[in-house]
Amino acid sequence: MNKTGFIFDLDGVIVDTAKYHYLAWRNLANELGFEFTHDQNELFKGVSRKRCLEILLDIGGVEATKAQFDTWMIEKNEDYLKYIEKMDESEILPDVTKVLRYLKERELPIALGSASKNAKPILEKVKLLPYFDVIVDGNNVTKAKPDPEVFLIAAEELGVNPQNCVVFEDAQAGIKAANAAGMVSIGIGDAKILSEADYNFNDFTEMDVKFLVGLINDNK
Ligand code: BG6
Ligand code: MG
Repeated sequence: MNKTGFIFDLDGVIVDTAKYHYLAWRNLANELGFEFTHDQNELFKGVSRKRCLEILLDIGGVEATKAQFDTWMIEKNEDYLKYIEKMDESEILPDVTKVLRYLKERELPIALGSASKNAKPILEKVKLLPYFDVIVDGNNVTKAKPDPEVFLIAAEELGVNPQNCVVFEDAQAGIKAANAAGMVSIGIGDAKILSEADYNFNDFTEMDVKFLVGLINDNK
């Protein structure tokens, strides 16, 4: 039987960095003279930095020159980096380490599939880097989620067929990407928002060993 590959999104699945992305975008919106709400932030999950800024400027009705656009991209990221600077293991979401350890002990292939260009330093800060056989992030892709590229590259680098991969995602765009890749999609977070996922959990504390074993033996 083929091995199952496990692909984890980072922001909002492994660590709660979605809140820091939100704060940094809100700071920029406020500086440009408009509000940016939590609900609007939902659209930013899983979406590339560039696309996020385009959406933000649309929300605020702000026109930008190329130079302004580039400056604001840098400004947002520098602000975000200040928020994540002090991150440590305490910011790993509940039971993530337990699931990673379970998979690692069974020598199952594990990849990161994230849109973020800050993925590696974050995994280093929270000391989870050693669990990952493969890292595919915003630096390796040309097409952002909901395009399946990030997950297809991860599967290829793991040496696992896409249909034998399982993806953990907190973003609508990420679930769409996993489904488009022909993988098993698992929504982590609000099931109403992630209704296109094959399975839904609020977080990893709800996922028991029996479910994981089922995934290992039973692919789509
Ligand atoms: C995703 C986040 O993981 O990474 C998005 O969900 C974010 O909100 C994207 O915009 C890009 O992140 P970064 O760190 O490269 O700006
Ligand atoms: Mg995410």
